[in-house]
Amino acid sequence: MKNIGLINNFYKIAGAVFLLLAKVKYMLQGYKTPRIFTMDDYERCAAYDISVVDGWIKYLNKYTSQSSDIRDKEVLELGPGADLGIGLYLLSKGVKKYNAIDVNGLAADTPIQFYEHLLKKLGQKQLSADLKCLKQLLSDFNRLNYVCRQDFSLTSSFLENSIDIIFSQAALEHFDDIENTIKQLSIVSKPGAILTALIDLKTHSRWIRDKDPNNIYRYSPAFYRLFRFRGIPNRLRPYHYEDIFIKYGWGNIQIFPIDTLSEDEYKKMRPFLFRDFYDDKNQMQYLSIILCATNQK
Ligand SMILES: C[S@@+](CC[C@H](N)C(=O)[O-])C[C@H]1O[C@@H](n2cnc3c(N)ncnc32)[C@H](O)[C@@H]1O
Repeated sequence: MKNIGLINNFYKIAGAVFLLLAKVKYMLQGYKTPRIFTMDDYERCAAYDISVVDGWIKYLNKYTSQSSDIRDKEVLELGPGADLGIGLYLLSKGVKKYNAIDVNGLAADTPIQFYEHLLKKLGQKQLSADLKCLKQLLSDFNRLNYVCRQDFSLTSSFLENSIDIIFSQAALEHFDDIENTIKQLSIVSKPGAILTALIDLKTHSRWIRDKDPNNIYRYSPAFYRLFRFRGIPNRLRPYHYEDIFIKYGWGNIQIFPIDTLSEDEYKKMRPFLFRDFYDDKNQMQYLSIILCATNQK
């Protein structure tokens, strides 16, 4: 028992050090995507993009209980991160237009060689798309539209009622004004539009993320705010997202747990969470989820 207390105190102190380091890193270098591989590892980046899209489609199919047809659909990705390989892959699958919006222009300098590598890989998957034509799409803003703006304004970037499908991977947990983003999503998406978003609820700093995934939930809001920077995990829990989506006209919300703590692991750390996160409604066992919702306006 004494040991459990010691270990938890250690994690609490270690987590605060990681929060401080993350803030200092942001102040020195700006926002960096926390991927464990760098952009020059083309093979891993390409494999990552392909697996992300395949994962979204798998859950979209589960959600709609059918093989969802994404051909001729207009897609919006929130927070694409370091490259637009996902856009190319989606276009190769026949989507009409791929839009993406971010506050950090991380994908602005992606080397063309990466896209060539990805296209070769897609070619090996024997996709029907004309690879040359896909390459041209990188500069065709009518089909691949990458918007980077500090205000993250969806309504200034995309037409009302224009989006059929919204995808996002490990980005919603970074949004600083999630309510405003969801409110705007309701406007730019069509009635019946579907959102499929993976939300990474875990602590983001490496090492501690694996050892103590719920570390960021040990602190009071006032303490956590000391380390605030744009992009720090917002600590919203699944029910927060659900409530906001419902408030702005979304329905049939389904949450698929992707990564979870065991009951035993959860029970051991629960007494050391900050009190706001005690209640079962926080579903602290969930470390990452896929949230699907339909715009019912
Ligand atoms: C962890 S990265 C994930 C990127 C990409 N989807 C992936 O899976 O590699 C988080 C993304 O959210 C974006 N982001 C960070 N803070 C944000 C904010 N306050 N508002 C909107 N987007 C933000 C980042 O620029 C980045 O694209």
